[in-house]
Amino acid sequence: LFAQVELAPRDPILGLNEAFNADARANKVNLGVGVYFTDEGKIPLLKAVREAERQRLEAAAARGYLPIEGIAAYNQAVQGLLLGKDSPLITAGRVITAQALGGTGALKIGADFLNRLTPDSIVAISDPSWENHRALFEGAGFTVKNYRYFDAATSGLDFAGMLADLKALPAKSIVVLHACCHNPTGVDLSADQWKEVVAACQAGDLIPFLDMAYQGFAEGIEPDGAAVRLFADSGLSFFVSSSFSKSFSLYGERVGALSIITGSKDEAARVLSQEKRVIRTNYSNPPTHGGTVVATVLNSPELRAMWEAELGEMRDRIKLMRNQFVNKLAAKGAKRDFSFVNRQRGMFSYTGLSAAQVERLQKEFGIYAVSTGRICVAALNSKNIDAVVDAVAAVL
Ligand code: LMR
Repeated sequence: LFAQVELAPRDPILGLNEAFNADARANKVNLGVGVYFTDEGKIPLLKAVREAERQRLEAAAARGYLPIEGIAAYNQAVQGLLLGKDSPLITAGRVITAQALGGTGALKIGADFLNRLTPDSIVAISDPSWENHRALFEGAGFTVKNYRYFDAATSGLDFAGMLADLKALPAKSIVVLHACCHNPTGVDLSADQWKEVVAACQAGDLIPFLDMAYQGFAEGIEPDGAAVRLFADSGLSFFVSSSFSKSFSLYGERVGALSIITGSKDEAARVLSQEKRVIRTNYSNPPTHGGTVVATVLNSPELRAMWEAELGEMRDRIKLMRNQFVNKLAAKGAKRDFSFVNRQRGMFSYTGLSAAQVERLQKEFGIYAVSTGRICVAALNSKNIDAVVDAVAAVL
């Protein structure tokens, strides 16, 4: 049966964890996967999460099946984060949200639903994009193309190229956009650029699919939701995948959501009924724990304030690490100006290091990064940054 099965390559991101774990060197550093670590190099268990878990334990809640679309209080809270709790779209019943298995799970149920709805659509993703976007949409049956995004010459955005490529897409193409903290580059659009992208989606009859995995890591919950609000104001129908892996430090609980903004309450009911069929035939219904924890935090004013403060600390520490990375490389006399790292946002930086340089970092120094040159700035800390800077300067 399996004689013809070929060995698949390691996942470009999660595969690095396997190699890192197998590395016996004591001073190894994992800048590969997008995970936030404290200055002590630990994945934090947030205080707000611990308190919500304590309450849940005390309540000794039964673990029955959840509804197919998940916990209602969770789904409402997700909508509030994305659109603002007083959004007229929510009041009008035009938004549906389904709890999903992380951001990836949300993208998958969105992709499967879209493939039933409009199978001949092209999916357009940024060049570059998160490695899993292409594989996921191709796996759902779509042809996936790139639109221009990153400008290697400036380590910034090729906005003219992006806009030209979006305008050239056939009607009903699905455009995957990173709502904030672009993964892998850390390069985001300005508010004015977002307005032009929204206009291009309207003019071209495109289907926007916003990936929101890092809300709160650029400037804060409200400002990081700005792009979603612009799409909401446009009258377009669109999709948003949310992830709370990073913002709640709940990676292994797989807490995410798919929200679909439809044209009317009636449309919303029909779309939800179809989305439920997709979920039921994939994994039936979501797990209880992570969603309950996030809903408890978001729906309690005290815990929400505690969470936003903790998220702010994570954001500030990443910015500090960006700053130190840039300054220390300059102080070392690095041949390249890395000041662009301070302009990039979120967990990642596209450093411009080549695949060969990344390989040297791993082999000679035990420093792991994605072969594209992406590093997770959120894994730098006061103890490992000097070693990382020395190694980067050495391979340049
Ligand atoms: C990343 O890009 O490293 C994260 O989103 C983790 C993942 O699933 O790839």
